[in-house]
Amino acid sequence: LVLVETPSNPALELIDLEWLGEFCRARKLTSVVDNCFATPYLQQPIQYGIDLVVHSATKFIDGQGRAIGGLIAGKSELIKDIRFFARHTGPSLSPFNAWIFSKSLETLAVRMERHCANALTLAQWLSGRAEIARVSYPFLDSHPQAALARRQMRLGGGVVTFVLKGGLSAGQQFLNKLQMLSHTANLGDARTTATHPASTTHSKLSEADRLAVGIEQGLIRISAGLEHPDDIIADIEQALA
Ligand SMILES: Cc1ncc(COP(=O)(O)O)c(C=O)c1O
Repeated sequence: LVLVETPSNPALELIDLEWLGEFCRARKLTSVVDNCFATPYLQQPIQYGIDLVVHSATKFIDGQGRAIGGLIAGKSELIKDIRFFARHTGPSLSPFNAWIFSKSLETLAVRMERHCANALTLAQWLSGRAEIARVSYPFLDSHPQAALARRQMRLGGGVVTFVLKGGLSAGQQFLNKLQMLSHTANLGDARTTATHPASTTHSKLSEADRLAVGIEQGLIRISAGLEHPDDIIADIEQALA
């Protein structure tokens, strides 16, 4: 079995899904893609022959940070076994969470358009700032895989990352100064959220393992929400000062 995440959290590295589909088919490997950052609106790995697609519905599918859950889509013969396992071992959604997610799917497309527009505007603005060493966003021309991103994703996604020149202390100071943005490990919320992966989501990795996947001490991950882009930029600007 081959499991990939594209775009990856938080480095925003991409895997070529056409290549992956062919690679796994030729070797009779089961392919699984974590499509959480892209959502089904931006990217559909099934079109490339991927066997299973998994989502943390907690993120953009819910869209308001209300419920925890996930979903798996894919070939019916594989889903049949997963459904049997889930029904007999417990990882099933409560009816209320299932209702929240299914209502949220009705607005996924319009929300993703706004998340992505805000993220791109923010990434372009961040790229011109002297305090910042590096900005990453799949649809920025400076992203090393921008051409691949445009080929397999409808838009660049709602997440932007950047590295502050001042490292860990600059990152802590930035997060403490935020006023509108919420400081949380979650993402995909209607509200813009900021995370410091090295001390939260990826704190269990060693420093060497973090650096190997592009998580420097000064890395900040922003999940662009649905607010007016000027308000998001104004809060980030005052926190950088
Ligand atoms: C790409 C990706 N997949 C899966 C998960 C796990 O999500 P959950 O906490 O809903 O199980 C996360 C959480 O951050 C994620 O970013």
